[in-house]
Amino acid sequence: MKSPQQFWDKIAPRYARSPIRDEKSYQKKLAVTQGYFRPDWSVFEFGCGTGSTALIHAPHVRHIVATDVSPRMLEIAEAKARDAGIGNISFRQGTLESLELEAESFDAVLGLNILHLLEDVEGAIARVHALLKPGGVFVSSTALIGALKFYWRMLIPVMQAVGFAPHVSRFDKQALVAMLGAAGFSIDYEWQPNRATVFIVAKKA
Ligand SMILES: C[S@@+](CC[C@H](N)C(=O)[O-])C[C@H]1O[C@@H](n2cnc3c(N)ncnc32)[C@H](O)[C@@H]1O
Repeated sequence: MKSPQQFWDKIAPRYARSPIRDEKSYQKKLAVTQGYFRPDWSVFEFGCGTGSTALIHAPHVRHIVATDVSPRMLEIAEAKARDAGIGNISFRQGTLESLELEAESFDAVLGLNILHLLEDVEGAIARVHALLKPGGVFVSSTALIGALKFYWRMLIPVMQAVGFAPHVSRFDKQALVAMLGAAGFSIDYEWQPNRATVFIVAKKA
């Protein structure tokens, strides 16, 4: 199987052109997220892709550090930020494990459509918790592979074998909520646009 960087670099131009699948749900998630933001907030995003969501949120906070494993995704994101004249996003290449970041330095962490793509989901959640200031929020939206219908789950290894799908972790909502709780988060907001997706805002005490 390709590394995550190779996989996502290859599909970056196509990903940048693909439309939002459920515009109404996307707008709701943006609005809920912005309901938490304050103008002086420092925000960290991992798996930012081509930066579309960071660009929308940037005017509502002081600064966003937007990161991704794929340099190709980040090139597109940087070009979009330049074209839009947005100057308060720093784009950095790397993962939650590889990036050097100061503990308790962010008011919010965004992990959108990314948790299910990680091999060590528990480790990622613990790292997010460590990066947040006390009272900070972790905003996540994720596919619940464990809640997919049986035939979709059976299709994944086939698609992976031919290079059409990346690694996925198979948790359901209950398992995700348990992992967040074990890391020290409390669930502040939870919404399921459909049975196989969940949007959660989790708070650090
Ligand atoms: C499905 S896309 C989501 C992009 C964006 N968050 C969105 O909602 O449109 C997943 C993104 O995560 C990135 N990614 C995959 N594995 C990663 C990892 N271990 N660390 C950081 N980024 C990763 C990919 O390069 C890709 O840009």
